[in-house]
Amino acid sequence: METPLATFQLAVNSTTVPVEADPAMPLLWVLRDVLNLTGTKFGCGVAACGACTVKLDGQAVRSCVLPVSAAVGKRIETIESLGTADAPHALQKAWVVEQVPQCGYCQSGMLMAASALLAANPKPTDADIDAAMTNICRCGTYQRVRAAIQRAALELYTSPNMPAAHKASAVAAMKIDTEVVA
Ligand code: FES
Ligand code: FES
Repeated sequence: METPLATFQLAVNSTTVPVEADPAMPLLWVLRDVLNLTGTKFGCGVAACGACTVKLDGQAVRSCVLPVSAAVGKRIETIESLGTADAPHALQKAWVVEQVPQCGYCQSGMLMAASALLAANPKPTDADIDAAMTNICRCGTYQRVRAAIQRAALELYTSPNMPAAHKASAVAAMKIDTEVVA
């Protein structure tokens, strides 16, 4: 017997959209097939590779195993929200400078995981990055990913637009003198 469809209101990027779907349908398929947000990729389907990573209330989650019903009432952010060609996010600029993408397939998931990491830890150490970035890249871009996250962290940290709380958190993480970068 087919599961009846339900209608949800999903807060995706900067909008709220009605979606009719099986409540058990993975969020990944709702994003890709219903909302046409195809930047989020399918890799393994079992929460192992991270290609499907999006942010849910700021946390990196693997959308291939998350039922859409579990995302109702939460803020969903996909790669389409990170920046634009005209106004790229600091991470996207760093990705270009460090020449991170090779085939590119894993990279939207990498970027969303990195975005969640920097929101929680504005100036991560290499060890922090290695611990947080569990995404798999068959092209082996891990060292470039690490360099790009450090580059983006520095740009965000030295930006005059950085909120004071974010900056204080970064200072604590870096254990440095604020005079150095003020
Ligand atoms: S496709 Fe979701 S973790 Fe691999
Ligand atoms: S860039 Fe090819 S899989 Fe990561």
